[in-house]
Amino acid sequence: MKTYPQKSVPTSEITDPTVFSQRRSLIKAFLLGAVSSQSLLASAGQPINPLAVATTGTQLDWTPTPLALIQNYTNYYEFAFSKEGATNTAQALTIDPWSVEVCGEVEKPGRINLEDILHQFTLEERIYRFRCVEAWSMVVPWLGFPLNQLLARFKPLSGAKFVKFTSISAPEAMPNQARQAMLEWPYSEGLRIDEAMHPLTLLATGMYGNPLAKQNGAPIRLVVPWKYGFKSIKAVVKIELLKTAPMTTWKKAAPEEYGFYANVNPSVPHPRWSQFSERLLGSAFFSPRRKTELYNGYAEQVAALYADMDLRHFF
Ligand code: MTE
Repeated sequence: MKTYPQKSVPTSEITDPTVFSQRRSLIKAFLLGAVSSQSLLASAGQPINPLAVATTGTQLDWTPTPLALIQNYTNYYEFAFSKEGATNTAQALTIDPWSVEVCGEVEKPGRINLEDILHQFTLEERIYRFRCVEAWSMVVPWLGFPLNQLLARFKPLSGAKFVKFTSISAPEAMPNQARQAMLEWPYSEGLRIDEAMHPLTLLATGMYGNPLAKQNGAPIRLVVPWKYGFKSIKAVVKIELLKTAPMTTWKKAAPEEYGFYANVNPSVPHPRWSQFSERLLGSAFFSPRRKTELYNGYAEQVAALYADMDLRHFF
C-alpha cells in the first residue's frame, strides 16, 4: 500500500489531469460506440500502485475504473433511485462542518471533527475491487485509513461485539428522506467487531487522490471490499459499538434479499438474480462478464473470519 503523509495528494501523482478534462467526452463517445472499453480503461492511466496488483485477479481486474464512471453511476437512495439522479441531487448536501460521533461500548465516547480526522490519521491509497449486490463491479483507488485506528482512539470495551454505522439525516437536502420514501432513514449498516477491526476495512475520505465527491459518500464513508456494496455506508456521522447485532436499513426492508453479512459469494444467488458473475463498469456492453469471486477475491485475507459458518446459506 502506498502511504501519503496527509490529506493532499496532487492528482498529478495519480492520473494525467487531461484524463479528468476529457472524461465527459470519452464517456459520451464510449456510449455512442465510438471508443472501445479498452481505450476508456486506458484513459484512467496505469494502475496507480503496482504493489496493489495482488495475488488474486488479472491485470485488468485491478485497472482503476475511470473516475467519471465511478462518479456518474452511483447508488445513493436518500437522493434518488436512479444512478444519474443520485449523482446530480447529492450536490445539495452540506458537508462542512462535519463530525463523527463514536459511542456505546467504548471507554471514551466522543466526537471527532473531520479536520482532526484528516490531520491525525495517515491517509493511504488502497485499490480495492467493489462489487455491488446488483452484479456490477468496479475498481476504486480509495484514499482512507483503517477503521480500527479510529476505533482504537475511543478504546472499545470487551462488551463491544458489533458496530453500527449511521449516515447523516438531512431531509432538507435529501428528497427521499423528506418524503420518507422506500427505506427507513437515516441509512444504517453494521459489522461484527472482528470485521470492523480487520485491516482491510477502511474509512475513506477520498478517491483518485482527491476528496470524495458528494455522490460517492463525502466527506467520509465506510469501505468493506469483501462485502456487497450496500454495506459500504456513505456520509457516516455516527459509529456505535454494541453488545448485540444492530438492525440495518436493507435487512429491515427486505431480510430475504439483503442479509447482515452480505459477503460476496457467487454460489449463493440473490433471490431474484444470480451472483455468479458481474459486469465490470466501463466494459463494453457485449464483452464477457467477469466471474465473481468468493469474498470478492479477498478470501485469503478474510475467510478465517467465517471458518465456522456454512457458506452455502448465509448471505
Ligand atoms: N450509503 C447511503 N447512505 N445511502 C445509500 O443509498 N447505497 C449503498 C452504498 N452506501 C447507499 C450507501 C449501495 S447500494 C452501494 S452499491 C454503494 O453505496 C454505492 O457506492 P457508490 O455510489 O459510491 O458506487
